[in-house]
Amino acid sequence: MRAKGAEMAGKDCVRVAVRVRPFNKREKDAGSRCVVSMCSNTITTQDPRNQHVRHTFTFDYAYWSHSGYTQNKNGLFLPEESGGRYADQGSVFKDLGQGILDNALQGYNATLLAYGQTGSGKSYSMVGYGPNKGLVPTLCERLFEAVKVSQDSRQCQVFFSMLEIYNEQVIDLLSKGSRSPGGLRVREELQRGFYVEGLRRVPCDSATQVEQLMEQGTRTRTTAATHMNTNSSRSHMLIIVQFKQIFSKENITKQSNINLVDLAGSERQRSSGSEADRLKEGTAINLSLTTLGNVISSLADAALGKKVVHIPYRDSILTKLLQSALGGNSRTVMIATLSPADICYEESLSTLRYAERAKRIQNKAVVNESPTERLVKELKAENARLLARLSRLGPEGRRASDDESKELRRLLTHNELQIRAIQTLWEQHLQEALKDWETQYATITQERRMMQTHPYILNINEDAQLSNVVKLFIQEGDWDVGLAESTPTSICIRGLGIQERHAVFTNEDRRVSVTPVGDAKVTVNGASISHRTELQHLDRLILGSNSTYLFIGLPSERRGDDWSRYDYDFFQSERAAAEGIHINSLCDEQNEGDSNVESSQTDPSLLAVFYDYIKLMPMVTEANQMSQELKKGVEFKLEIKNLAMSDSRGHDLEKEIVVRVTSVESKQVWIWSKAKFINRKFLMEEVYQQQVGSGEGAGGSPLPRDRDPFWDPLEPLHLGSAHLWLQSLAFRIPLEEQVEVLGPEGTEEAILQAQLVPCSSTGLPLGEEDILIDPTELLGKRLDFQLLLEQCCGLRWLRKAKNRGIQIGFRMYDCPQTFYTPAVWHNVNPLLDQRVQFTALRTSQDLLNYLQSSALVLELWGLQEGCADMVTSLEGLRMTPGGSFIMDKVSFSEASVLDSPPSDLSSSLKALHQDVEQLRSANAALRKENSVLRDQLSRGVDSGRGRTERRGSLRPSSDAEFARALKVFYHSMTSVRGQLQRLRRHKPSEEADLLGLRLFVDEQGRLLRDFGEQLEQCVTTLKQDVAAIVRRKRERSGIWS
Ligand SMILES: Nc1ncnc2c1ncn2[C@@H]1O[C@H](COP(=O)(O)OP(=O)(O)OP(=O)(O)O)[C@@H](O)[C@H]1O
Ligand SMILES: [Mg+2]
Repeated sequence: MRAKGAEMAGKDCVRVAVRVRPFNKREKDAGSRCVVSMCSNTITTQDPRNQHVRHTFTFDYAYWSHSGYTQNKNGLFLPEESGGRYADQGSVFKDLGQGILDNALQGYNATLLAYGQTGSGKSYSMVGYGPNKGLVPTLCERLFEAVKVSQDSRQCQVFFSMLEIYNEQVIDLLSKGSRSPGGLRVREELQRGFYVEGLRRVPCDSATQVEQLMEQGTRTRTTAATHMNTNSSRSHMLIIVQFKQIFSKENITKQSNINLVDLAGSERQRSSGSEADRLKEGTAINLSLTTLGNVISSLADAALGKKVVHIPYRDSILTKLLQSALGGNSRTVMIATLSPADICYEESLSTLRYAERAKRIQNKAVVNESPTERLVKELKAENARLLARLSRLGPEGRRASDDESKELRRLLTHNELQIRAIQTLWEQHLQEALKDWETQYATITQERRMMQTHPYILNINEDAQLSNVVKLFIQEGDWDVGLAESTPTSICIRGLGIQERHAVFTNEDRRVSVTPVGDAKVTVNGASISHRTELQHLDRLILGSNSTYLFIGLPSERRGDDWSRYDYDFFQSERAAAEGIHINSLCDEQNEGDSNVESSQTDPSLLAVFYDYIKLMPMVTEANQMSQELKKGVEFKLEIKNLAMSDSRGHDLEKEIVVRVTSVESKQVWIWSKAKFINRKFLMEEVYQQQVGSGEGAGGSPLPRDRDPFWDPLEPLHLGSAHLWLQSLAFRIPLEEQVEVLGPEGTEEAILQAQLVPCSSTGLPLGEEDILIDPTELLGKRLDFQLLLEQCCGLRWLRKAKNRGIQIGFRMYDCPQTFYTPAVWHNVNPLLDQRVQFTALRTSQDLLNYLQSSALVLELWGLQEGCADMVTSLEGLRMTPGGSFIMDKVSFSEASVLDSPPSDLSSSLKALHQDVEQLRSANAALRKENSVLRDQLSRGVDSGRGRTERRGSLRPSSDAEFARALKVFYHSMTSVRGQLQRLRRHKPSEEADLLGLRLFVDEQGRLLRDFGEQLEQCVTTLKQDVAAIVRRKRERSGIWS
């Protein structure tokens, strides 16, 4: 088709709209905060963790659909008051839909793309829900209205197609025949560009017909999703409306292709894009979305004048089909949808950044008009030629070549017929489509009747658009449900983990029950069942790994209740609760020791963890099922990383969901991040699809390891951490501790014996006389100490399998590298015997603060046979000539200058030194008596007596006494800390009954009492020691004066 005025065409930028949806139930339950605000076309986000971090974006349109709305009796969402800021479906259509329609009527190609996170409202805007019709149905309605106007001057033809791109396969959602394996082919022609070969184009002449086709398409999409064994929405849906206007008088045809694209959730792209996974390139599921991002980025760069050599349209099916929409002959609009909730902040920001790039893209749209149908034109031209030849033959010639004349007339008649056929073809197609539609309509009417009379199960999908689409009726009698083909007494369902005969539904005496067959997995309201179970109206059923259905009871049981609350999230939360994971339990975990429970309950990061858990849980179940069926021998389990872990200052570490992968046979373990697992899950589906779909099953040719999504090379695992508090170093007090290494979920992984020994530059341990009372005395001076890692005891990691090893890793202050102890293998209580000396050449205030408020985090790393040890990299590490690691940034020469005191101070220093010596000797004499005193005090000796005794033991060196008191205090605090850790971990067993709970409470009470007493004792001892020292000091000064 010739594009008129191509040479004159200006550039159209892609227009971008942003729409903010209301909070969903999950966000409301979580008490989410709105972190997005809108003013005219400008949208601002606020970082929930730091309110001062704001980002502002401006777009062509911005729609506030978050608040200020009301629902009328028909279920329509409208602004609360007329002129209110709430943008309803109507107002979105007025800007975007009408624009597309106007463009189509003028003969421009038009594209509308919906982009955003899963559940952000793409389908709501594009397709709509119930009475709140989206852009596509309204656009079609208005298109047919426009068609009816001025029917005399033009004939209009509308063709409707609907397809899905899943895993780089094109599925025709309107196809009546069976699906071709591998999907439809995308071809390229010079004139047409890329197109889907064999895609069904249904001629339509009414909006109702289009709606019906969309319903049919959604149904196919839902069943396709179960065939693919997925319940999660990650396909792209593309509706193509071809609109042709034939102006017979002018002999002109205008044609517009309208692409309406509902993209898969944008986080799919991030899940593989950001993470370093060995197999990240392999996944086809994310390919279209990733490539779309790359195309948009390249085009945006090109628009900014950057040199862009190549636009990667050809890298994915989606971008091939959208080539004209992006940078080509189309007027394109993108609607970016967002949730304004704090937990979605990161995703929303990334959507806005994506949209920001898209708005720079420049297209070159032209009106697609041509003289009416080339073929008709050519036929007419041929007829004219034939007639001319006939007339040239004349009466003489005609007689002479009667045969030729006959042939010419036959050709003429044939051509005339063909012209007429072309013109009537449209009518015929239309009639056929209508007939087809009537059959379809009859099926739908019958289904509606059945819904009024029979109980049924209704599919619930992660994608709300695909929910409530499949209805399986349970008529009187027994019904086998499973993979086996439907018969008069059986119903065929598909899905991961569904058996040939999976369960029997019985409808008897107006009661419906379900009985699993064999060991088939059936869950009712979150709990697994093994026997016949009667179903109540609105019970939640999960068949196999994750085929979720809502049971709709007999009509008499239905009381106009609201079914919408039983969405996919509801099912998964119920299942998580049955596994003991509940948002409150997570909060409790975090709030231990936190008196301000209210404020931390809405911690968005913790909520995000909970929702990640809910989201990943069904995926883990599916992955386990695939592993089992493909005989991969690995098990997946969700874990919460850092649930009980803190950083070097004792602050909680950010929690995140990880997946523990265990090889059943070899007991090898891998820990995968959430993103890696999601990526792998997509790849597993591909493998599963290929092997099971093709009937190969587990017996198929094994995948090479480097392409196997179930396999990874072994790596050291972070098993847990222990905290060795450094405070005593600030007083030059040695510390000897047995610290507990706690795993991510608070389990005791091992006990580690460690020491911190203040020492001289040559490594000689300092004595008690070197203890400091005032740590600031260290400022500007050199500080040396040794860290001793002696032994690790009771390694849980080794108790589980002997062919394993461990290493300890830690990072000291400003040292640029993590230190690792050498690997030790095959021992539950391995000796480490590691001694490392550290030096601060000049103690700064910052280092002092570090020592006083931080712990050395000792990480326990688990090694497995075949994985490489971790080695300390020496890069950037500095050492003293004596072999001590320098942990501050001061240079040696600088430090030695500073270490030597200026000469004018030397005399006073000398004096001080003498003073200190004098105090030291006094201290030695005091030592013995002091320890007796402390013993008496800790035994709660009468204070009066204590006072007199102390009075009688006055000695000059009170600073040294103080230092000793501190030392005692630190040592006793070590056991107090141990007790606190025991308390934090002490939890009732999951199966505990009332008696069990009572015992737990008693035990908890006892632990608390012990803890309280120990703490009290430490503090009292310290207080009494200090008080005595102060008193003595006063008295002493009195004596001296
Ligand atoms: N503007 C809105 N007003 C009211 N409800 C909305 C709005 N946008 C979305 N919703 C609701 O939010 C839910 C999720 O929306 P929708 O199905 O459109 O998400 P989606 O972006 O298409 O997600 P997916 O990627 O899973 O397809 C639906 O229940 C829908 O009704
Ligand atoms: Mg959707």
